[in-house]
Amino acid sequence: MIGLPLDNNSSVSELWKKKTTAVAGAVVVLLVVLFGTNLFNYLRIEIAPIGNTESLCPLNEPIVPKSFLKDNSSVLTILHDKRYRKESIAKLSGAIQVDTQIFDNQPDVPDAPEVWAKFGKFHEYLEKTFPLVYQHISIEKVNTWALVYHWKGSDSKLKPLMLTAHQDTVPIQSDTLGDWTYPPLEGHYDGEYIYGRGSTDCKNVLISILETFEYMLKEGYKPQRSVIAAFGFDEESSGIVSATALAKYLEKTYGKDSMYAIIDEGPGLTIDSYTDTIVATPGTGEKGYVDIEVELTTPGGHSSIPPDHTSIGIMGELAYIIEKDPYSPILTSRNPTLSYMQCMALHDPKRNIPRFLKRSILRAAYDKFANSKVINLIQENKLTRYLIQTSQAQDIIKGGEKANALPENVKLLVNHRVAIESSVQEVKQHFISRVVEVAKRHNLAVNAYGDVVLDTKNNSGVFQIRVFSSPLDAAPLTPLNDNVWKYLSGVTRHVFEDLVYPEIDYPIISSPAIMTGNTDTRHYWNLTRNIFRYSPFFVRNLLHDTHAHSVDERLKFDAHLQLNAFFYEYIQAVDTVKADNDN
Ligand SMILES: *[C@@H]1O[C@H](CO)[C@@H](O)[C@H](O)[C@H]1NC(C)=O
Ligand SMILES: *[C@@H]1O[C@H](CO)[C@@H](O)[C@H](O)[C@H]1NC(C)=O
Ligand SMILES: *[C@@H]1O[C@H](CO)[C@@H](O)[C@H](O)[C@H]1NC(C)=O
Ligand SMILES: [Zn+2]
Repeated sequence: MIGLPLDNNSSVSELWKKKTTAVAGAVVVLLVVLFGTNLFNYLRIEIAPIGNTESLCPLNEPIVPKSFLKDNSSVLTILHDKRYRKESIAKLSGAIQVDTQIFDNQPDVPDAPEVWAKFGKFHEYLEKTFPLVYQHISIEKVNTWALVYHWKGSDSKLKPLMLTAHQDTVPIQSDTLGDWTYPPLEGHYDGEYIYGRGSTDCKNVLISILETFEYMLKEGYKPQRSVIAAFGFDEESSGIVSATALAKYLEKTYGKDSMYAIIDEGPGLTIDSYTDTIVATPGTGEKGYVDIEVELTTPGGHSSIPPDHTSIGIMGELAYIIEKDPYSPILTSRNPTLSYMQCMALHDPKRNIPRFLKRSILRAAYDKFANSKVINLIQENKLTRYLIQTSQAQDIIKGGEKANALPENVKLLVNHRVAIESSVQEVKQHFISRVVEVAKRHNLAVNAYGDVVLDTKNNSGVFQIRVFSSPLDAAPLTPLNDNVWKYLSGVTRHVFEDLVYPEIDYPIISSPAIMTGNTDTRHYWNLTRNIFRYSPFFVRNLLHDTHAHSVDERLKFDAHLQLNAFFYEYIQAVDTVKADNDN
């Protein structure tokens, strides 16, 4: 002990040794704590500098069209006038009343015109409802029922703005008819919501575009920049019959990279749960898509003398190992989901995000530990989990015919939504590796996508792997640091801060987002890079408030008027060379 006389056999040097050992021990413990646990990683997130974040999510100024400054009454009429509202309800309700349900795997129009004839009624309805549009705008029909409205601008040097939506809806399942509060084809308005199939997906968008055209024509508006509206009729079965034809037609008419921007159905404004503020989330990316089918063929026989594993058992084993081994999440700066979180962390108007989380998000692009923290957070929520991960869902299995006969043939179909950072090719290869693993255990051959992958001698059966329906890589990402984005987010701020929510006291951030599903824009990649899946109206809770594709699909009517106001202001705001990217 310090200060006490040392006794004979404990020398200074020995005490020193003890001390050193103690210090060394402490250092080791500290090192173990720092590196063995994650303390060091936590410390780094807390104190290391974050780097330059200025370019990550710049806040753009509100953009107000000139017409608004002269006279703001037109857009205020859209939002608040009783008569405008009443007429608008009637227009959307009427559109819902025309049945445009479509089903999967339909033949093309020339091969089965009767399947598509119902769209004739819808066209009649539009023509009757929007007389000025049909009088002043040139209209082209593509593959019989797709509609293109060319509202020609006076300045042909300006790239046209393209607005798009689809005429078709998903089917109404007949066994759910009794569950609807109001019949799905009635277009009932209950004083707050309008109900019915297509009310949010997406006759609302289609009608909103035409209502806006009609209203502007009535005011004598003449655009400098052409405005095009294009409406397919089989989006709900991938747009194979209509959007493909529209894409060809538009590319032929206007050329590659000819559009100023494309705005299609998509998310709009909602409450962000991290910051508890209203945020706009234009879809700037889409995951990829591939369905892979695997078929196992084995010799049949009597079930009284079965092999140890029938083809059903083996397929069950494959199904099991697929689910046991989900794709790993991946979050890089290519993924709009990270951009979204960065936007929230940087702006966070109410200072709601805890410091550690904020710093983790801002470091996630280059700090592995921070990245894993953010991944964990995203994956806790079922709704956001697959924004950063390839999903795999075993959706169809078929096999076996008879109780006393061995199944000769079993098929399994797996649906994948491919992560932004992955590719269809990667998923296809990974699928092979799992099948091969099972095939080796059971002495089976494997053919994949037309090639022999595993050629077992004297095999006892064959796996065939093929791609089912047309696969799609993740969409090219929409640029964010350009004028087109500035105008989109600027007009969003103007409409929602000045007109819809004047009481809020923070800026409405537009933040990129991805869709886990695909829209018709999958066919429009050649027309522009500036594609937005974006229907700017406010929905607090997407699942609860809209019931898209489900029973009681409905739309808050205020939301519909917000969309009309947005289109009205946006079309005018971008009607200038200043909105172009070259400026
Ligand atoms: C609309 O214009 C009027 C008259 O110029 C003005 O008093 C009013 O504040 C404006 N409203 C908005 C929402 O800008
Ligand atoms: C191939 O399989 C059959 C039946 O399973 C067996 O009778 C035969 O001996 C095998 N031939 C070789 C070369 O393994
Ligand atoms: C886009 O352009 C490429 C290259 O010219 C062409 O092969 C492809 O078919 C086009 N895509 C669509 C959807 O038209
Ligand atoms: Zn839709």
